[in-house]
Amino acid sequence: MPQLCVASFLVLFFFLFSSCSLYPALALSNGRPWRQNFSSNASNSSAALEFGGSKKYEGSSEFVHLRYHMGPVLTANITVHPIWYGSWLPSQKKIIRGFIRSISAGEAKRPSVHGWWSTVRLYTDQTGANITTIVRLGEEKNDRFYSHGKSLTRLSIQSVIKNAISARTKPLPTNPRGGLYLLLTSKDVYVEQFCGQVCGFHYFTFPSIVGYTLPYAWVGNSATQCPGICAYPFAVPTYIPGLKPVKSPNGDVGVDGMISVIAHELAELATNPLVNAWYAGQDPSFPTEIADLCEGIYGTGGGGSYTGQMLTGRDGATYNMNGIGRRFLVQWVWNPVVSYCSGPNALDQ
Ligand SMILES: *[C@@H]1O[C@H](CO)[C@@H](O)[C@H](O)[C@H]1NC(C)=O
Ligand SMILES: *[C@@H]1O[C@H](CO)[C@@H](O)[C@H](O)[C@H]1NC(C)=O
Ligand SMILES: *[C@@H]1O[C@H](CO)[C@@H](O)[C@H](O)[C@H]1NC(C)=O
Ligand SMILES: *[C@@H]1O[C@H](CO)[C@@H](O)[C@H](O)[C@H]1NC(C)=O
Ligand SMILES: *[C@@H]1O[C@H](CO)[C@@H](O)[C@H](O)[C@H]1NC(C)=O
Repeated sequence: MPQLCVASFLVLFFFLFSSCSLYPALALSNGRPWRQNFSSNASNSSAALEFGGSKKYEGSSEFVHLRYHMGPVLTANITVHPIWYGSWLPSQKKIIRGFIRSISAGEAKRPSVHGWWSTVRLYTDQTGANITTIVRLGEEKNDRFYSHGKSLTRLSIQSVIKNAISARTKPLPTNPRGGLYLLLTSKDVYVEQFCGQVCGFHYFTFPSIVGYTLPYAWVGNSATQCPGICAYPFAVPTYIPGLKPVKSPNGDVGVDGMISVIAHELAELATNPLVNAWYAGQDPSFPTEIADLCEGIYGTGGGGSYTGQMLTGRDGATYNMNGIGRRFLVQWVWNPVVSYCSGPNALDQ
């Protein structure tokens, strides 16, 4: 959702190349006021369909010119290294680890996280090599004493990563080929532009700060700061009367909401790790990447501010894919073969 980031990114050179995600793909995205209120809930917002605002790229490939810009993509086995910044409960870590481990789990019941990743795998590099099918959970690092305080800037995020790879005890390995560094901030941590403009973003580290060029992403737990934005549809914006949240699949609104943002960033890191591979738009300063194109779409019919058809468990929780022993709600990604957003729970598959 680059246009969101435009105004505030003009300040510093490197901001120009940052990629960010804001949830949900609601009126907020375009800064338009709601024209009508919802009579329904977040999983069925028929009113939302009439809302003339944020027409996404759903169904139509007319406006989307996703192109390959010759840069590398992640064809080597991926290892994700979480950095837990702040206070994290073991139960919260389990949900996120469970999601990362599910990406390569071909044995999970369909529709599966593994099936979701198969759309990401459709992207190739110059040699025709596909994105890897192997995504592993690697070594982790805790930064439980808030080494850089409770308010982080984009630059201090890189310093947190530097700490993690240069720690005296158990430093994270540095692997620029398949290593991804996932900085996760707890609900009491504010990150520059969190909630107002972004729920997460990805970029790569600067050798001048970190010593290496490493693809990384940041995703924050929005539970207390803006769940209605970043954990939608498990929470809804308070200014929309009558819109009801849906039940989250793992009993933690903030963390269940983070899953889709983490998925968004991992898909984009894999296909555009150095921000010179797969993206749409004329301006490389504001790339629209494969998950940006499908933000807020979780099922067939999704678009505008309608999430699309999701699944409901016997416990009443809403999800759209299975992992190993857990369910998750994850946005779809752009499918380059058919030129529309797709996901494992599509009804026409
Ligand atoms: C819509 O909003 C108006 C004003 O905020 C309120 O009076 C009305 O009851 C709402 N309608 C529904 C169906 O929620
Ligand atoms: C929300 O809408 C869906 C789709 O119409 C419906 O199945 C579900 O029961 C509704 N949930 C609530 C809490 O109203
Ligand atoms: C959504 O809700 C509206 C009003 O409650 C209903 O008329 C419509 O059939 C529902 N649509 C779906 C797809 O469930
Ligand atoms: C990638 O992972 C596969 C499956 O675990 C393994 O067989 C292979 O050796 C790995 N390749 C590299 C380069 O590590
Ligand atoms: C690799 O990408 C090509 C081009 O999108 C696609 O046709 C092929 O099915 C992909 N292979 C795998 C294993 O996903």
